[in-house]
Amino acid sequence: MKFDTPATTNPIDQLKVVGQPTPRIDGPLKTTGTAPYAYERHDIEARPAYGYVVGAAIAKGRIAALDPRAARAAPGVIAIVTARNAGKLGKGSKNAAKLLAGPQVDHYHQAVALVVAESFEQAREAAALLKIEYATEPGAYSLADAKDSAEPPKPGGGGGGGAPSTAVGDFQAAFAQAPLQLDVSYTTPDQSHAMMEPHATLAAWHGDKLTVWTSNQMIDWGRGDLAKTLGIPREKVRLVSPFIGGGFGGKLFLRADVLLAALGAKAAGRPVKVALQRPLIINNTTHRPATIQRIRIGTGHDGRISAIAHESWSGNLEGGSPETAVMQTRLLYAGANRMTAMKLARLDLPEGNAMRAPGEAPGLMALEIAIDEAAELAGLDPVEFRIRNDTQVDPEKPQRPFSQRRLVDCLRQGAERFGWQQRGKPGERREGGLLIGLGVAAALRNNLLMKSGARVRVDGKGMVTVETDMTDIGTGSYTIIAMTAAEMLGVPLKRVHVRLGDSAFPVSCGSGGQFGGNNSTAGVYAACMKLREALEKKHGAGWQQMPLAEAVGPEGMQAEDRIEYGDLDKKYQQSTFGAHFVEVAVDAATGETRVRRMLAVCAAGRILNPVSARSQVIGAMTMGVGAALMEELAVDKKRGFFVNHDLAGYEVPVHADIPHQEVIFLDETDPISSPMKAKGVGELGICGVAAAVANAVYNATGVRVRDYPLTLDKLL
Ligand code: MOS
Repeated sequence: MKFDTPATTNPIDQLKVVGQPTPRIDGPLKTTGTAPYAYERHDIEARPAYGYVVGAAIAKGRIAALDPRAARAAPGVIAIVTARNAGKLGKGSKNAAKLLAGPQVDHYHQAVALVVAESFEQAREAAALLKIEYATEPGAYSLADAKDSAEPPKPGGGGGGGAPSTAVGDFQAAFAQAPLQLDVSYTTPDQSHAMMEPHATLAAWHGDKLTVWTSNQMIDWGRGDLAKTLGIPREKVRLVSPFIGGGFGGKLFLRADVLLAALGAKAAGRPVKVALQRPLIINNTTHRPATIQRIRIGTGHDGRISAIAHESWSGNLEGGSPETAVMQTRLLYAGANRMTAMKLARLDLPEGNAMRAPGEAPGLMALEIAIDEAAELAGLDPVEFRIRNDTQVDPEKPQRPFSQRRLVDCLRQGAERFGWQQRGKPGERREGGLLIGLGVAAALRNNLLMKSGARVRVDGKGMVTVETDMTDIGTGSYTIIAMTAAEMLGVPLKRVHVRLGDSAFPVSCGSGGQFGGNNSTAGVYAACMKLREALEKKHGAGWQQMPLAEAVGPEGMQAEDRIEYGDLDKKYQQSTFGAHFVEVAVDAATGETRVRRMLAVCAAGRILNPVSARSQVIGAMTMGVGAALMEELAVDKKRGFFVNHDLAGYEVPVHADIPHQEVIFLDETDPISSPMKAKGVGELGICGVAAAVANAVYNATGVRVRDYPLTLDKLL
């Protein structure tokens, strides 16, 4: 269906089911360990063999020699896959480097071989017997060193796309004339997704047809890229991923486990399971690239921004994209003279790619400290400074309004609720040996529109089945999709069965960029509307008074459709907004920071399910605390790899680290966004959090740290 003008009578607005706090229907499966993850599938006909992935021991160069004989002769070994016997392989459209190296090596731990054996232990044992010699070539591993060689990326490159640079008015002149000038640089480190479930795949061939049970956020992209890499028609590939133990962007794209399981299964002549070993994941897959960001803000004595510039440098492999850390600065604050620019350096570290609100999350880590610093220069409270510089139109395209923008409401309500007036001057508030501080940051994350399809079937008993290749990455997709169908067809939630994550189902938007919830339910809405139209044709308006089983008849009925959005000429800028408030306690002797309280106020359209939306936001807030205080991949700048490549060395916080987390959703509907009038909300929860923590640490200690993470050594 085409969605052009907001419907005046929209069945979803009944809100008997949608919008009600609803526990996740997949919750019991996940918490009892009975949700079938890819590595645990038992419903295949033959006993699978096990694959063990061997990663390159150098960052850049060539495989000079590979002798598989000893490994091949080891007990239980069935096959060894390398670039030499794998046949001609393409490269997926979303992959910067090949997933199976050879002879060229593009990055450390790039896969060079898969050993397939009867058991995992035998495969691992044999892998250690592979004799590999490398010819090393020099590479570039330091962003700081490569910064001066960085160039503007190609237009549209990078998650969220967008121009490599923008300019409005005359920034240089306006900044030079501004009475208050801030010119500061910040750094954010490389970070890892660190999801619980590793990348894992079970692959089985039936003749020339391939089925992979895997862990993937974007079924249709994965299917297309796997077919392309193997050089087979996409119709021959089926990708199944009904349950995912976390992705955070790391499972948006095809990874080595999928390709190698497929190649291993072909070589072994039977199904093969491959899980990327935890110590391999960080260097073998993707990460959030480090950034260097320079921000200049010129402000008048009235506290109004007259000039703002944000430049960001990041690095990637050849063919990789920049971290789009300037995107939010194009939209968040007023200011007549402005410029943004991204620069991309060539680095030989593993591939940088999307992670947890790519672009905005690391961009706001810098921008929202800079705003705190600019407010201080202007002698204004940071909440007031942000309110004073609000804009209701896209500041780069002033004729273009936001579809909804309630940032000021988020800031005001948050300040009131959090007790913002308790905030003192930096270093002023003490409780025994602890320094207490409060911090605030604004949040912005764009609301992306994606096409999404679904099929809905009602059987003769009135049971509803919804099928779409949408995924549930722990976000609650099963639940909001069931709620949407229940609302649209007037049945209780219990009568709806949702099937997800299978390329045999209609193509959906998939999960990423916080676009999954709004777009996938809009696709289900479209399919349900089509079914409603068919029922209306059959019975007239009277069908709504009939029991659904009777209305569809003994044979049942089925409809399939996909949503296509209006506002194609982008008359409106669609974004989500929020305000984050944080209280920290810093140990005056050790510099150790603890987050004591957090509050997020979110304006993100209709909230389809307040329970799962809140869970996503507090999860994202916790990740924001990780970005502020802990998460950092340490780069070995000589050998070119991430040193702390497991969950012992790469630390992340858990909810229990933060005693109080509260989320308020503003009562908002956005009819421009979709017929659901919802928007994304998950990634909004991380955007700005790290800066709010950094600003709270400054308020507690008077020490301004501009290099993340804020480890205690930087405070002493
Ligand atoms: Mo998200 S980083 O787009 O999965």
